[in-house]
Amino acid sequence: MGEIPRSLYRLRTRVIHAGQPNDGPTGAVTFPIYQTSTFAQHEPGVHRGYSYARTDHPTREALERCIASLEGARFGLAYASGMAAINGVLVLLRAGDHVVATRDLYGGAWRIFTKVYRKFGVDFTFVDTTDLAEVASALRRKTRILWIETPSNPLLGITDIAGCVQLARNVGALTVIDNTFATPCLQQPLLLGADLIVHSTTKFINGHSDVIGGAIVANDSDLYAELKFFQNAVGAVPGPQDCFLTLRGIKTLPLRVASHCTGAREIATWLSQHPAVARVYYPGLPSHHGHELARRQMSDFGSIISFELAAGLPETLIFTKSLRLWTLAESLGSVKSLFCHPPTMTHASMEPQVRRSVGISDGLIRLSVGLEDPADLIEDLEQALAAVAPCVASEEV
Ligand SMILES: Cc1ncc(COP(=O)(O)O)c(C=O)c1O
Repeated sequence: MGEIPRSLYRLRTRVIHAGQPNDGPTGAVTFPIYQTSTFAQHEPGVHRGYSYARTDHPTREALERCIASLEGARFGLAYASGMAAINGVLVLLRAGDHVVATRDLYGGAWRIFTKVYRKFGVDFTFVDTTDLAEVASALRRKTRILWIETPSNPLLGITDIAGCVQLARNVGALTVIDNTFATPCLQQPLLLGADLIVHSTTKFINGHSDVIGGAIVANDSDLYAELKFFQNAVGAVPGPQDCFLTLRGIKTLPLRVASHCTGAREIATWLSQHPAVARVYYPGLPSHHGHELARRQMSDFGSIISFELAAGLPETLIFTKSLRLWTLAESLGSVKSLFCHPPTMTHASMEPQVRRSVGISDGLIRLSVGLEDPADLIEDLEQALAAVAPCVASEEV
């Protein structure tokens, strides 16, 4: 099929070619959508590599190979959502196993850990993984997985991946990195020793807010075989159209991520100088506690920014209603700039006291900087902050 060796080309070439050869029978230069659920067999059990689309599917395989290649991995698996990919890893666990996880992680991950897998006898400890001492003291003999989000959602904490891998190996645990925020363009955790990577491909990888999807990548063939078994057994796989759209999005991933990062840097700097803003969380700012580590571990700082207004919840809600160009919506990583209020949206599934204890305040806003002109995005933020300013001033009187 003219498959290219995975490590031969640079990322910008791999997003276009990896897993996506020109179509053999027709020469179509874009990998086709094979809209079929099953495949003809020559005789019982003898087929051309595809028997049933839940098990293996050519368009899905193209996507899986491409994502694996971008992460410098041997194997990729695609899922119907990021949560299905997260579940695709968690099914490796058994009752009695223990997991150590980043404490400010995506609310849906926290929900499946605490509300689903705890019920099956899996134990979870949430720690500030930016502090290796905290990670070391949480790991136990029964720890099977060290689960890390870096940058974390929504506080953009930066965790030392290589440092965590060493600690996890000491107790025989796997290190799993949710690389959704960074994408393989900015950070390649397997090269730092991690065992598995999960992605919500819904975000930057697809990048156009029109597909829900997820992926796992791995290097170890035994681990891959186990994951592949569960992928087929559980069946939360994406359809061919979604795989095709995700592959279309991937082709511009490096260009989009570079432009997202440029815009985010400008906006984070501007926000950090605005008097109505109390605190900005962005690893690209020298004031961010993970800035130096992010410089070493990532090739740029991403385009998610969180910030707190120098005001209370009512003013924060006025701010959310005043933005015009930014769209109030769950999700991130799209060409269109989105923003959310984590306490009531992405992290609403966390109990309020847990949320506050990990530092997610009621006044927190998370921005996902899109590809619009940053000057327009800043002007919109400016007018929304101005709408809040009179309320703050009247409270001060
Ligand atoms: C970091 C992270 N991981 C996983 C997920 C879950 O992905 P999905 O919504 O595609 O199921 C999300 C969703 O927002 C996320 O932000």
